[in-house]
Amino acid sequence: MSAPTKTPKSGTNGARAAADELRPVTVPDFLAAKARGQRLTMLTAYDYTMARLLDAAGVDSLLVGDSLGMVVQGHPDSLSVTLEEIIYHTRLVVRGARRSLVVADMPFMSYQVSPQQALENAGRLLKEGGARAVKLEGGVRVAAAVAAITAADIPVVGHIGLTPQSVRRLGGFKVQRDAEQLLTDAKAIEAAGAFALVVECVPADLAARITAAIKVPTIGIGAGVGCDGQVLVTHDMLGLFDELRPRFVKQYAEIGREISQAAEAYCREVREGTFPGTEHSFR
Ligand code: KIV
Repeated sequence: MSAPTKTPKSGTNGARAAADELRPVTVPDFLAAKARGQRLTMLTAYDYTMARLLDAAGVDSLLVGDSLGMVVQGHPDSLSVTLEEIIYHTRLVVRGARRSLVVADMPFMSYQVSPQQALENAGRLLKEGGARAVKLEGGVRVAAAVAAITAADIPVVGHIGLTPQSVRRLGGFKVQRDAEQLLTDAKAIEAAGAFALVVECVPADLAARITAAIKVPTIGIGAGVGCDGQVLVTHDMLGLFDELRPRFVKQYAEIGREISQAAEAYCREVREGTFPGTEHSFR
């Protein structure tokens, strides 16, 4: 999985490298990236247009996160998101992703009941949604579910640290610091067969220890630079969603402000009769 580049290449090696850049990212690519020390990039996507843009920008993996409950549906948390909704959004994202590995989040109560329930629902995300992998939250407590899913050859991404589906128990979105528990959780999820592990809101030195303790890549969010890759909620990093501003989010653009300005300009021009102009009209 070589880094994406926009520079055209010539010669046989260049052609091979260019073909490699278009080749879909696979689960073994994730493991190879860690072995090579190549950092992985993941962003959330919930629809076709955004998936196309992020995919073309060279993002390695698109996560159809249950964060859509907040940034798309306007809920205060992700708990009400349903499996059907994730399947629907996964279909949209898969259509826009040529290269990125599409991972579908398993929503709250779609895997906690039993390993059997987890396996059936993970299967639906692949069969009906077209996802390449699923993600679920938790450590030791969900290891049996992860093992059941991976035994059916469905690739799994784990998620430890701040697990937003546990927000009621945790009492809020807080940094997680229990080193012993987090290391145990990471090893349990790796042993159950996960091929990557999201580590959320954990002190940077502890996330680096977790990264060194397991062979599968860690994908950090609010977990410092010592992880094998990073993930952000796209709406946060683009400045599209300003209701929550976690410290770990770097805002790379102010698209929300641009949308407001564009909509204001449109309203003004329609009201004053300067849009549509003759160039937008038919004779
Ligand atoms: O739902 C989501 O977007 C996530 C990421 C924050 C990792 O789980």
